[in-house]
Amino acid sequence: MLSGKRILLIIGGGIAAFKAQDLIRRLRERGAEVIPVLTKAAEEFVTPLSVSALAAQKVYRDLFDLTDEAEMGHIELSRSADLVVVAPATADLMAKMAGGLANDLASTLLLATDKRVLLAPAMNVRMWEHPATQRNLATLTADGVLIVGPDEGDMACGEYGPGRMSEPLAIVAAVEAALADGPLKGKHVLVTSGPTHEPIDPVRYIANRSSGAQGAAIARALAALGADVTFVTGPADVDPPSGVSVIRIQTAQEMLGAVEASLPADGAIFAAAVADWRMASASDSKIKKKNGKTPTLEFAENPDILATIAQMKAGRPQLVVGFAAETDDVIANATAKRERKGCDWIVANDVSPETGIMGGVENAVTVISNEGVESWPRLSKDQVAAKLAARIAEALS
Ligand code: CTP
Repeated sequence: MLSGKRILLIIGGGIAAFKAQDLIRRLRERGAEVIPVLTKAAEEFVTPLSVSALAAQKVYRDLFDLTDEAEMGHIELSRSADLVVVAPATADLMAKMAGGLANDLASTLLLATDKRVLLAPAMNVRMWEHPATQRNLATLTADGVLIVGPDEGDMACGEYGPGRMSEPLAIVAAVEAALADGPLKGKHVLVTSGPTHEPIDPVRYIANRSSGAQGAAIARALAALGADVTFVTGPADVDPPSGVSVIRIQTAQEMLGAVEASLPADGAIFAAAVADWRMASASDSKIKKKNGKTPTLEFAENPDILATIAQMKAGRPQLVVGFAAETDDVIANATAKRERKGCDWIVANDVSPETGIMGGVENAVTVISNEGVESWPRLSKDQVAAKLAARIAEALS
């Protein structure tokens, strides 16, 4: 049920706008109040009068409408709802959102809102598959925007493929999920991510190839389930997700300090690729070439952050999850690593170069716990994160 919930529904200009009218009915049947906003292009497909009649509300259409601004300014309008839904979300609206444009009422509301946004994309299949749209989609997902659909099927333009707007009832289900209190509400979960950089001197450092993509996806998925997430990240290639508390560090020692300072936590997920060694003593000044002599680097072992937290005598998080990046005997090595480090679960993956996992967009993991060994199929890092977050929610409930 959606009683007492206010939905700001932005209707974009596409043939699927007619389905948005049914969406208004379905949302209202469940008790939601729907405040409709029409783009100029949407008015070519549905009339303000029919939308207003179905919503039993005033329709907002113009950024520079003096009466509207006097009654409820656009900033207030963008914040007054519990959720902002864009259906249909056209390629143009998605591009404006991804680029942060605000040149009409709809795009301004989307930039000004402090509420979650759910998009139901609808467009021609070529437009959907175009790299520009897929780039915008990736940007929006990383910004925490929720997406439902599009569906695959016959399209109004006569082509076939993904691009049809989801059916109104599927959008209603996504609205209900977005407004439900997630299963991790009230839980504090710590996530480490990315590589660490260990300085050799002020200009050189030791690093590894971790992009931080899997850790960021896990933090985002946990936040989407309502967790209060602390994200401790090294210098990663991908940006941290929105809606989490970010602590940026460079070295393994700094990461341990940040993790300890962030406790207590209900769960701790160690996805970072921490450097095992640092320089025994990093040079304060740049090491210079000396008559063809090569320098000898002397290493010292870094603290094992996962093992330190997993073996805490008091105040240990209820669930401690480690990752094992292996190139040989993945399951045997990861099982031994779980024992050695004392964590509850190990998520193992094969990072041999031929798998393309390290730095790539997909992952194939095996989860090792007290309950046994479970290998998951090769999935996108976002899908692995969603599956893992659901597992974590179950374990912490
Ligand atoms: N880890 C950590 N602190 C370290 C090293 C690793 O917290 N100093 C964590 C990683 O975040 C990961 C797990 O330990 O969750 C496994 O890291 P990995 O580098 O795969 O294993 P190692 O302990 O380095 O073992 P080995 O080098 O033998 O593979």
